[in-house]
Amino acid sequence: MSATSYWKLILTTISIPSTRPFHHPQRHSALHCGKVSLETLAKRFGTPLYVYSADQIAERLRLFQQAFAGRDHLVCYAVKANSALAILKLLADRGAGFDIVSGGELERVLAAAPEAVGRVVFSGVGKTAAEIDRALTAGILAFNVESEAELEMLAARARRLKQKARFALRVNPDVFAETHPYISTGLREHKFGIDIRQALRIYQSAAGNRWLDAHGVSVHIGSQIRSAVPFGAAMERVNKLLKQLRPVGIELKTVDAGGGLGIDYHGGSFDPAARVHEYATAVQGALQGFEGRLLLEPGRFLVAQAGALLTRVLQVKRNGKKTFVVTDAAMNDLIRPALYQAHHEIVSVKPRAGRGRVVDVVGPVCESGDFFARDRKLAPVEPGDLIALLDAGAYGMAQSSNYNTRMRPAEVLVEGAKARLIRRRETIADLLAPEVLVKDN
Ligand code: LLP
Repeated sequence: MSATSYWKLILTTISIPSTRPFHHPQRHSALHCGKVSLETLAKRFGTPLYVYSADQIAERLRLFQQAFAGRDHLVCYAVKANSALAILKLLADRGAGFDIVSGGELERVLAAAPEAVGRVVFSGVGKTAAEIDRALTAGILAFNVESEAELEMLAARARRLKQKARFALRVNPDVFAETHPYISTGLREHKFGIDIRQALRIYQSAAGNRWLDAHGVSVHIGSQIRSAVPFGAAMERVNKLLKQLRPVGIELKTVDAGGGLGIDYHGGSFDPAARVHEYATAVQGALQGFEGRLLLEPGRFLVAQAGALLTRVLQVKRNGKKTFVVTDAAMNDLIRPALYQAHHEIVSVKPRAGRGRVVDVVGPVCESGDFFARDRKLAPVEPGDLIALLDAGAYGMAQSSNYNTRMRPAEVLVEGAKARLIRRRETIADLLAPEVLVKDN
């Protein structure tokens, strides 16, 4: 095959849609994130390495803000998707608030952008008294309360601290959303939220408590949902609740629509602006008559496609009929394929000429579940080559671990032509520091 037709083939078969910031600026050039070569980044920072585009994250936030520009709204980024301090700061600087689910995430927001604490909502099914106290004194916007018992606990903490607590009931709208069962949350059988049929009674009983301020209502029906329909259905049920609350004198100021808007991991051609617009239309259309503030908790949609996990091929190994590409990244660095059978596109940083081959891409961890792809057709790769796992910006580093005593990757944030280290690679000293070696005497 001639070099020209080879490159044509590469560009058509693995051409990365513009929904991602990763691209080959010219034929034969290495894969870039914006203006920065991933080859250069690997040399500078080593592998495995998470690389994020600040420009895309900012752009995705802007898409959300534009789609809801017609009304009072606040985008509360779901910190769990990617909790890097530099990313939180970037989003806070552009007006975002945050959805947190632990005291640890609150500390991250306070470290990265203390001025944004008034834009924080606190979700999660099991908040401790200490977490509630810290959030109350820090002055967060509201607690998304997940049970009656939690509401009682919140009232008790508020009374103790003499600080009124703003709350939203997280209601479970009993809406089915097509997604992986581990990340679906909006059905009555799930552990999340309060049965929407109980909400009226609970709001009424809370109205008598001077330490509680019924600020809003919230839902979150699941994650990686690509259709706007279930979001609209959930909001219709919420609107029905609002209509039951008004006649009894309870006028809520906020509706929190949760997160969950999905992306296309298979690299299909999807238009992010159109998807957010469709979502915004469904959500707002179902809330006719509600004049208050809309809160949104996107996580994945803002950061997933901005990130890639850059890794080096250690071995190409054959076992019978199978070929395994062994990389220096593993399931501890990116667990999504192992945990959710998730698909991540894999591309070579410098594609080689030659016939593609069907391979398994695996890490060095001692588990058969340690794979990134199975029976995947890849352009030829050799030991030492760099490959990138795409769409790894959300729930990648955030779900990483030290399994097999592996140091977690470094993280780099690319802005224009600048690449900045936002988290250094862990060292063995970091890993051993909390441990106590018990000696016999
Ligand atoms: N709000 C609440 C209350 C949530 O529980 C979540 C995600 C979000 C917002 C953000 O959802 P997003 O916009 O990112 O879909 N680890 C899984 C995803 C778990 C999502 C958990 N909750 C994955 O890698 O696919």
